[in-house]
Amino acid sequence: MTQTLAVIGGQWGDEGKGKIVDCLSSAVNAVVRFQGGHNAGHTLVTDDRSIVLHLIPAGILHRAVTAFIGNGVVLSPEALYDELQKLSEIVRDLKERVRISDDCTLLLPSHAALDVAREKAKGSRAIGTTSRGIGPAYEDKIARRALKVHHLFDHELLGEKVSELLDYHNFLLGQRFGEEAIAANLIHDSLCEASQWMLPLVTDVSRDVSSLVDNGSKVLFEGAQGVMLDIDHGTYPYVTSSNTGIGGISTGAGLPLAKINKTLAVVKAYTTRVGAGPFPTELHDSVGNRLAARGVEFGATTGRPRRCGWFDSVLVRRAHQLNHFDGLCVTKLDVLDELESIKICTNYQYDGRSVDNITSSAIRLQQCEPVYEEMPGWHDATYGITDYQKLPQNAKKYLMRISELTGVPVAMISTGPNRPHVIYRELLSDW
Ligand code: GDP
Ligand code: IMO
Ligand code: MG
Repeated sequence: MTQTLAVIGGQWGDEGKGKIVDCLSSAVNAVVRFQGGHNAGHTLVTDDRSIVLHLIPAGILHRAVTAFIGNGVVLSPEALYDELQKLSEIVRDLKERVRISDDCTLLLPSHAALDVAREKAKGSRAIGTTSRGIGPAYEDKIARRALKVHHLFDHELLGEKVSELLDYHNFLLGQRFGEEAIAANLIHDSLCEASQWMLPLVTDVSRDVSSLVDNGSKVLFEGAQGVMLDIDHGTYPYVTSSNTGIGGISTGAGLPLAKINKTLAVVKAYTTRVGAGPFPTELHDSVGNRLAARGVEFGATTGRPRRCGWFDSVLVRRAHQLNHFDGLCVTKLDVLDELESIKICTNYQYDGRSVDNITSSAIRLQQCEPVYEEMPGWHDATYGITDYQKLPQNAKKYLMRISELTGVPVAMISTGPNRPHVIYRELLSDW
C-alpha cells in the first residue's frame, strides 16, 4: 500500500508537477513542500480557471488536504501574503489548512535586491535566476545569520537580528554593487506586521507530518524545480540553491526517507529549461519553435520564454540514479501530436567517445553532443485521452522507449493541462 508519495521534477523544472500533485491529491490528507521558495510556479487548471501557486502546496484545492510548508523552504512573508489573498477568493478555509514550519528561513526584500545586483554584475555569465532572492536567502541560512519564522515572535530580538542582517546586506549592496541601501526599520515593521497573521499558521511541521504518517494518513511531498537544478547534483553553477531531489525531504520536511514509500518523477515528453546553462538537446529551429508554441512554454513565475528541445534520456537516467524513481509521469505528450518524427537523445558524444551518463559539471555538459534515435510521429490527437489503450500505437512506442532508455516504468501520462487529462497506470493503482 502506498501511503507516502514523493513527486519531484525529473528535468530542469516546469515539468507539470503542480497539475500532477493536484491530480494525485484527491484522496490525501497532507501535501508538503520541502524546498525552494516563490521561484516555483506550479500551474493548476480546473474547469473554470488557471491558478499558479508559488509557495502554497498544489493539493490545496482539495478540502481534506492540509498544506504544509516545511523548514527547507525559504519563505517570503510578502509573497505568501499575496498568494493567500488571491487564493482566499476561491478557497474559503485556507487559514485552517495552510501550515508553516517555525524553522523556515525568511526571505526578505534585501535578498531579492542582492539577487538582482549579483546577476547584473555577472553580465554575460548570469545564471538567469528568477530574481526572487532565493540564492542569497539560502546563503544566509548556511552562513547561520538568517532570520527564521520563529524569530518573528520576539519583536525585540527580531529588531536586533534584522539590524545586524541588514547591515551586512547594505554593505554588500552599497560597497560591492553600488546599489541603494534598504531601510532596516521598514523591514522590521513589515515583519512585525507579518507576525500577526502568520502566528496561527505556524507549527512544528516535522512533528505534525510524522504523526500523520504514523497514524496511517496519506501524505504527498511536492518537489519544486527539478533534479538538474539541484545545488549539489545539477548543472552547477546554473542551478537553484536547494536540494530538489528526494534527499530534500528528509532535511526540508524533517521526515526520514525510510518513510517515503514511492517516488514519482514528473518529466515532459520533451525537455525545457528557463534561464542560462547547458542544454544538449536544445533546438534552435522551427521544431523548437513549434514545441514552444504548442506547449505554451513561458515561465509561470517570470513569464520568460522557456528553451525547448528533445527528450534527453541521459539526464533522466542520471536523475533516476540519484533518486531511484518508482515511476515516471510523462506530461505534455499532446504537444508532440503533430510532429512528423520525434527524436530521443540516447547518449552523448564527448571527447571522441560515447557516454551514457553525465558528470554534473556544467562545463562538461556544455561540450557533450547528443546522439539521437528517431521515431515516427503519430499524426493523431492524444489531447485529453484518459485511456492508455486509446493512445496511437506510435505514442505508446515512444513512451515504452522512454521507459527502456531511462530504466523507469511509465506510471502516469498527462495529455493536456486540465485535471481530467490524465492516464493512470498500474503502479499508482493503490494510491
Ligand atoms: P511545474 O512548475 O512543474 O508545476 O510546471 P508549470 O506549471 O510551471 O508548467 C507546466 C505547464 O504545462 C503549465 O502551463 C501546465 O498547465 C501545462 N501542462 C501540464 N501538463 C500538461 C499536459 O499534459 N499537456 C499540456 N498541453 N499542458 C500541460
Ligand atoms: P518550478 O518549481 C524552472 C531556474 C531559474 C534559473 C535557476 C536559478 O516551477 O519547476 P533561482 O531563482 O532559483 O536562483 O534561479 O533555476 N528555476 C526554475 N526553472 N522551474 C522552476 O520552478 C524554477 N525555479 C528556478 O530559471 O535558471
Ligand atoms: Mg513551474
